[in-house]
Amino acid sequence: MTGPDPHFTTIIEPFRIKAVEPIRFTTREQRQAALEAAGYNLFGLHADDVLIDLLTDSGTGAMSSEQWAGMQRGDESYAGGRSFFRFEAAVQGITGLKQVLPTHQGRAAERILCGVALKPGDIVPNNTHFDTTRANVEAVGAVALDLPIVEARRPAAEHPFKGNMDVEALKQVLEREGVRVPLVMLTVTNNSGGGQPVSMANMRAVSAVCHEHGVPLFLDCCRYAENAYFIKLREEGYADKTPREIAREMFALVDGATMSAKKDGMANIGGFLALNDDGLAEKARNLLILSEGFPTYGGLAGYDLEALAVGLEEALEEPYLRYRLRSVEYLGERLKAADIPLVLPTGGHAIYLDAGALLPHVPGSEYPAWALSCVLYLEGGVRSVEIGSVMFGRQPDGSEKPAALELVRLAFPRRTYTQSHVDYLAEVLLHVGAMRERIRGVRMTQAPAVLRHFTARFEPAHGALVV
Ligand code: F0G
Repeated sequence: MTGPDPHFTTIIEPFRIKAVEPIRFTTREQRQAALEAAGYNLFGLHADDVLIDLLTDSGTGAMSSEQWAGMQRGDESYAGGRSFFRFEAAVQGITGLKQVLPTHQGRAAERILCGVALKPGDIVPNNTHFDTTRANVEAVGAVALDLPIVEARRPAAEHPFKGNMDVEALKQVLEREGVRVPLVMLTVTNNSGGGQPVSMANMRAVSAVCHEHGVPLFLDCCRYAENAYFIKLREEGYADKTPREIAREMFALVDGATMSAKKDGMANIGGFLALNDDGLAEKARNLLILSEGFPTYGGLAGYDLEALAVGLEEALEEPYLRYRLRSVEYLGERLKAADIPLVLPTGGHAIYLDAGALLPHVPGSEYPAWALSCVLYLEGGVRSVEIGSVMFGRQPDGSEKPAALELVRLAFPRRTYTQSHVDYLAEVLLHVGAMRERIRGVRMTQAPAVLRHFTARFEPAHGALVV
């Protein structure tokens, strides 16, 4: 049996807690002072001043007792360590891909893949590139092309697989520009598009189009287990398959994968590049040695490889996936009932609030999503991340253009918070939703040349965030 007795419908955390980490309560006055000291930038806060930290689900989850036990068994041999072979077997077992290169995190796998497979002027289509993937594609002078389905751009449009790629658009690119496309990527789940899954049917269609044109397909598979579970829940023909079988079917459609194992690897650090092409793998290994480390540790400690070998399997356990997706969905339901606009349906790892719709009176030039994320901290000690005009508004020529969407992402670390934390979050979000008309925008006072959202400083544009 994969869940509690079917007579009971409550979905509980499928674990009990063995080690606890206290969280610190602060007053609104203390949070106001912390915000001012941080220049109204939540990245500048001391984490101890945050009550519920939903900045990211990357590397911030809790490990299981089996993972900690595995860490004790870590083999720190420089070459040929036992832990590498356990890690390799886990990745091969889940993905079926032959060549496995460990990396310290996802972006290192992306950099190595882009380094060996791309040249200036190439085009890489993806459903939606995550920012590090885009940056790595662009760093070699290639073009990162997003081809999501139209529903992906409409926050309130319900679609079971909003992460899908527009297959027709891909066909056209490959027919017109095929020689410039050395590989195609699919990001599962589509993080920048709201944590939305890609259906097996879409993966199959994309894979067929790629292979007709002789172009390899790579998965950015950070959240492969969540994607597999969405397929089980939503796609016809998969209800009786295990997440592991579904994952195997997903990976059988591709030629390789990059992974940030800080997500569905259930560990605090790690990643990999896995692929079937031996020639490309050899080139990638040479680049790996140059910057990450010898191919049997790739920038990780032996104990990290052990934690990952266990974590990659744990991420596929159904009670865990059911609890995880349900926590996010539950919060989404509470928000929807209170008319708080958000990206629907809810994704796997996060809630995305639609700040543009919540705060129509705050102009794009006053960064509504940024202001909303600051207010969530001020009112409830909750840390989120803006995905809006601060992150995407600056154009390559230095001019400013509001982003298409003003979103605030609340990403759930894995196995870290409980139902009462989620209830608290709902209370804070409803409270902030009720005061929406009193929320005002911010003005940027200082910004670095690149990746400004990490270090830019702000002040309230109208005296205070809440008037
Ligand atoms: N691809 C996707 C879809 C991601 O979400 C991330 C990281 C990466 C690649 C890069 O992996 O951080 O290990 O180098 N996403 C984190 C987030 C940072 O908060 O969504 P990394």
